[in-house]
Amino acid sequence: MIVIFGSINMDLVARVQRIARPGETVLSRRADSFFGGKGSNQAVAAARVSHGGRMRVAMAGAVGNDPFGMACLKNLEENGIDVSAIRVTDEPTGCAFITVDEAGENAITVASGANMALRSADLPDSLLSKAAVLVLQMEVPIAENLEVAARARRAGVKVVWNFAPVPPIKERSAMAELLAVTDVLVVNEHEALAVADIAGTPAGEDYLKAGSAISSSFGSICIVTAGSRGAYAIAPDGTQAHATARPIVPVDTTGAGDTFVGVLANGIAEGLEVGRAMERACAAASLSCLTAGAQAGMPKRQVLDQHLSQA
Ligand code: RIB
Repeated sequence: MIVIFGSINMDLVARVQRIARPGETVLSRRADSFFGGKGSNQAVAAARVSHGGRMRVAMAGAVGNDPFGMACLKNLEENGIDVSAIRVTDEPTGCAFITVDEAGENAITVASGANMALRSADLPDSLLSKAAVLVLQMEVPIAENLEVAARARRAGVKVVWNFAPVPPIKERSAMAELLAVTDVLVVNEHEALAVADIAGTPAGEDYLKAGSAISSSFGSICIVTAGSRGAYAIAPDGTQAHATARPIVPVDTTGAGDTFVGVLANGIAEGLEVGRAMERACAAASLSCLTAGAQAGMPKRQVLDQHLSQA
């Protein structure tokens, strides 16, 4: 089983010619709503490749008692995800305001709402102990993430932690505390540099050097996703693996990183070695960019396997 502890949002998306600069107004023809939130996206990505539910996926999260919250819950259920650890709170459901430009690039502001009410206690031991992998991100309270990660480690559950967005901490000791309970850290190039800076292992603009420094200093595997350049995994002993990304013309890159994390977690839970799990995850992330919205383009297992076999 894979357990995701994280955020659930409704994404309100406007397509624009270019993303507004501070103080500027740009026009969009319309706004669309999509299911989102890094946690929910990662849960859906993992569930879609779970071979029709053979690898169970459960999510712990929090939504508001409002139409967005109810729709998000229904969406997770329809994707075959165990929602028994999702709490309905008095806070409004998380909402992300997203603009996507003509190149498929995005800018996102998240109003956290109910996500900040999520507590470690929302994930019962009975569920956590069944997991092979626990997946975390950074859109819920860090202290709760940290507590769940520590519980998972004690229970022998692997922790895959996506430091996105970059944790709002400044002290090396606080960063070290997070990395000490992480088995596999997943960051993009910018996050890798920021984490290395906070961790006291600055690497200038070299994201692979940042990944190596993080990995060797803190003993976790560091995976750096690099968009069209694919992804790199660096182990504490310096061993590196690279997975390439197939060239695509993106429609919307929102959720590509989450697709990568969810499919990676599925591969690790299935017992694949990290390099092989990364290849699958890269392919799934590319496919996810071909459709508008974070979750709509996430491939099912059959589509992904077909895509990989054609490569
Ligand atoms: O990673 C993409 C996600 O970030 C969006 O779905 C949005 O909800 C924000 O959480």
